Amino acid sequence: MTWFTKFLSSSLGKKILMALTGLFLILFLAVHLIGNLQLLKDDGGEAFNVYAEFMSTNPLIQTVSKGNFAFIVIHIVWALILTIQNRKARGTVGYAQTSGKSSIWASRNMGILGTAILIFLVIHLKHFWAEMHFGSVPVVNIDGKEVRDLAGIVDYWFHVNWYVAIYVVAMAALGFHLWHGFASAFQTLGLNHLKYNAVINFVGKTFSVVVPALFAWIPIATFFDI
Ligand code: HEM
Repeated sequence: MTWFTKFLSSSLGKKILMALTGLFLILFLAVHLIGNLQLLKDDGGEAFNVYAEFMSTNPLIQTVSKGNFAFIVIHIVWALILTIQNRKARGTVGYAQTSGKSSIWASRNMGILGTAILIFLVIHLKHFWAEMHFGSVPVVNIDGKEVRDLAGIVDYWFHVNWYVAIYVVAMAALGFHLWHGFASAFQTLGLNHLKYNAVINFVGKTFSVVVPALFAWIPIATFFDI
């Protein structure tokens, strides 16, 4: 066994990998949200379609996207391994506990929250990502250039009540998952410091509320034509 495989099979190594992949996924969420907010523009989906066409055809973005999928898989598989190990060790090497009622609730339920997000992700990727990459999305002409009308697909699904409900519930789960995960990742990586703890906590909690709320707002605003 090399030092690297030894490190990865230790519980600290696994937690560090969870923290690093989690922080990358947090970065992905911020970028994804900025792109999706273009759906709120009253331009018939033009800005979003140009953005989605660029993201799904640019070779550099596609390479980052493969890394993104790999990080999602690693984050989930390692979470499962850690949970099984924690159960066996009766919870002695679980997530670092932070103070506050919601933090304790979220830290105990990271597995359930993560599973809800995973179910959402499967539904989400099937309808949008797989449609864009393997489906037959109708084409629209924007400034003389043909681009796929992904905004039309999103608009269709965001007018289906049960679909909007799934998004809203999943975003609540995402909020709780991030509420605990953000602080826990910094603690695991040893990046917490008495001096900066307040700032890290503030940024983490603000991100956990604002980002899922904006993600949830897009289907709600579309459904009610706000
Ligand atoms: C209003 C909410 C959301 C909308 C409208 C939305 C829209 C989309 C669309 C249209 C795609 C396909 C883009 C393409 O392949 O070109 C996509 C991909 C994706 N979405 Fe979302 N999304 C939303 C929320 C989320 C959330 C909350 C997550 C994670 C928890 C997420 C994770 C992903 C992932 C992992 C991909 C694949 C990205 C890649 O190709 O690397 N999305 N989303």
